[in-house]
Amino acid sequence: MTNITTNITPIIWTGAGLKILDQRRLPVAELYLDCATVDTVAEAIVTLAVRGAPLIGITAAYGLAIAAREACDRGKLEALRQQLYTTRPTAVNLHWALDRGAAMIAALPGATMPELHDALLALARQIHADDAASCLAMARTGAELIPAGARILTHCNTGALATGGIGTALGVIRAAHAQGKVKMVWVDETRPLLQGARLTAWELASDGIPFTLNTDSMAASLMAAGQVDAVIVGADRITRNGDFANKIGTYSLAVLAHAHNIPFYVAAPRSTFDMTLADGAQIPIEFRAANEVTDFPGIAVYNPSFDVTPGRLVTRFVTEEGVLSEPRFS
Ligand code: MRU
Repeated sequence: MTNITTNITPIIWTGAGLKILDQRRLPVAELYLDCATVDTVAEAIVTLAVRGAPLIGITAAYGLAIAAREACDRGKLEALRQQLYTTRPTAVNLHWALDRGAAMIAALPGATMPELHDALLALARQIHADDAASCLAMARTGAELIPAGARILTHCNTGALATGGIGTALGVIRAAHAQGKVKMVWVDETRPLLQGARLTAWELASDGIPFTLNTDSMAASLMAAGQVDAVIVGADRITRNGDFANKIGTYSLAVLAHAHNIPFYVAAPRSTFDMTLADGAQIPIEFRAANEVTDFPGIAVYNPSFDVTPGRLVTRFVTEEGVLSEPRFS
């Protein structure tokens, strides 16, 4: 298979700090935020200027390197790490990356703050590069699941804007397209913040991959009309029994796919698997502000950012270690 690449760079380490492509402005404007402090990195994660489970883990890893430059001692460094840790609750990749940082700090008891900065920066670069490699491995194995002439439905944004590489679910779509197998990508708009309509549509248009935008509630009629051959999504946290959290609306897609006998695939790197949790009921779900849903004041709004899909509705998990029927690693 030809090597699949992307020119999209959602974060750039400059030496002085991180440049973060402000995804809130896409696709209208391609503007980078200068984030040279923990406050500005944390703010970018909280406000979804940078988003997507693997990418917030990578961003937080760089943020921890910045923290070692800001902190005068280990106590302050840990406080800044906690600030990053609590930016978003659902995607485990954030906590996975910061836990790796904590383990590195603990393993270097005599290190000065500049030495810790160098070590944490090397770790962030490694996490970033590893994620890019994981994306390619998932794309290669996942594409084998896609039949020729496929019409694939996807939700949210799982591409270069959400990872350190070509994406998880969108990486699989990119690879299947490179093999000439993709007839159409149905892009769920992904209410309320439109990660599908704004971000996935932008990525697919840049790559020349044929796609059609649909509102989330149109998926059922598309499936009933025989217009969907496979559904593929990413994940924010996958538990031991295969239950997983992903962008709100994913659960309804899985139920619909099951009802219409359509394969439902989840593509995610190992950093998304939380083997400490037995099932999806234990996943903390982020609730976000009412003004993401309505501008009208005084209206009670239900706005969970994620839902939990039961593992029994997943046909296969696509990981960098291969295609799995359930979360079991060597
Ligand atoms: O709130 P977001 O935009 O960070 O949510 C992102 C998702 O739900 C993605 O589907 C998930 O993180 C997988 S990204 C490879």
